[in-house]
Formats: sequence, C-alpha cells, structure tokens
Amino acid sequence: MSGSGGKGGGRGGLHVRVKTAKRRSVSSTRWLQRQLNDPYVRRAQAEGYRSRAAYKLIELDEKFGFLKKARAVVDLGITPGGWSQVVRKANPRARVAGIDLLHCEPIEGVEILEMDFMDDAAPDALIEALGSAPDLVISDMAANTVGHQQTDHLRTIGLAETAADFAVQNLVPGGAFVAKVFAGGADRELLTVLKQNFTTVKHAKPPASRKGSPELYVIAQGFKGRGDRQGDQSIE
Ligand SMILES: C[S@@+](CC[C@H](N)C(=O)[O-])C[C@H]1O[C@@H](n2cnc3c(N)ncnc32)[C@H](O)[C@@H]1O
Repeated sequence: MSGSGGKGGGRGGLHVRVKTAKRRSVSSTRWLQRQLNDPYVRRAQAEGYRSRAAYKLIELDEKFGFLKKARAVVDLGITPGGWSQVVRKANPRARVAGIDLLHCEPIEGVEILEMDFMDDAAPDALIEALGSAPDLVISDMAANTVGHQQTDHLRTIGLAETAADFAVQNLVPGGAFVAKVFAGGADRELLTVLKQNFTTVKHAKPPASRKGSPELYVIAQGFKGRGDRQGDQSIE
C-alpha cells in the first residue's frame, strides 16, 4: 500500500493506492482501495461508528425524522452495530434489540441476539429482548450476494418482506418502519402491504449509499395500528 498526494480520498486525506499482492485478487484489491479512499469510511473511523452504513441512517433521519421520538427500537441485521449506535446517540434513552446471523460486539443499551431473523422463534425473541412493542423497526439486512443480480435482489426483498410483516405485527400505532430494498421493481407486494398499513410510504437513496449500488430504502411512517388499515396512502 502506498500513499500519494493525489486528488480524491475526501476530507483532505491522502489518496491511498493499494498495490496488488500475490495472494490478493484484483477485485479484493479494488475493494480495499475503495474502502481506504471512501470519505464515509474515514468519517466513521474518526467519529467512532462501526460502519459507514451509520451515515445512511443519519441521512435518512435528517430527511424523515423518525429517530427523535423512538423509544423502543428493533434493529434487524445489526452487525457490526453502526445503526444501533446512531439510534442510541440520537436518543440515549431509547431501548434497542438487534438481531444478526453474525456476532456483534456489545453496545450499551442494546440487547443483541445472534440468530437468523428468518427463524420462527426470532420475532418473539426480539420482543422479549426489547421488553415491549417497538415504535420503530429498522432493517439493513442484505442477503449474502451470490453474484447473480436478480437472485440477490429477490433474496434481499424476501428479507425486507419478512421485516415488514414483523413490523406490521408488532409496531405500536404511529410507529415507523425503515428497510433496505433494491431498485428493480420486484417489491410490489411489499409496497402494497406497507401502503395498507402506514399513512406515508416513501423511497429514498441517501447520499452515503454508493451510486453504483441498486440499494434503496423504504420509509413507512404513521403505522395505522392493527384495527385500522384504511385511510390516506401516499407513495413516491
Ligand atoms: C449491511 S449489514 C448491516 C450493517 C448495520 N446496519 C450497521 O450499520 O452496522 C447487513 C447485515 O444483515 C445480516 N443478515 C442478513 N441476513 C440475515 C438474517 N436472515 N438474519 C439476521 N441477520 C441477517 C448480515 O449478517 C449483515 O450483518
């Protein structure tokens, strides 16, 4: 790896050029170079966030304002923990329960379950860990990519649909749901469910989400409660 005084890198840092190493593939060299020169990665390191993804939630919240009043939050796909850190920083009294297939280092005020969200036992385990019904469900879950774009897309949409179902079954009235989806149109069913159950449903791509990635977020606010599914609907 070598530093050069060239342009790029953001925030005035040096642009880092990564030399190919014998045991590193071209694609992982490219990944490493992108990480080292990504201004959000640098910012996350400087500001103590565990992931650059933290800034996606910060930017979504700046636009939609769902964090300030959140008191009981479920974080689906919590690891390494950036989103939960953001929740706790925005609202230090918020209780959080998170779940991931992968281990997540402890975060103060956050109950962490290391299990598959698709497991039948996961919803009850999350509610028990939280100690109450949530007023915000956030999901940054992404299926492990297999390299086939349509398959990756469908698997991530499957996770988002299950997350939406969990939100609809458990949120308190007025609650909100934020989830990662992929641009590409196969999420009609998800949108139908959300439009039936929330007052407003919008899509957004925060600046921290890489331009080349099909990733997008859906933000559903004003949960109508389980008895009242009619009323205004808006979608962008
Ligand atoms: C993009 S990362 C989340 C990053 C996190 N929001 C942050 O800011 O640190 C997506 C996570 O979803 C998790 N995930 C994918 N499928 C899952 C499943 N079925 N159950 C639980 N977690 C899952 C992955 O293990 C991965 O850690």
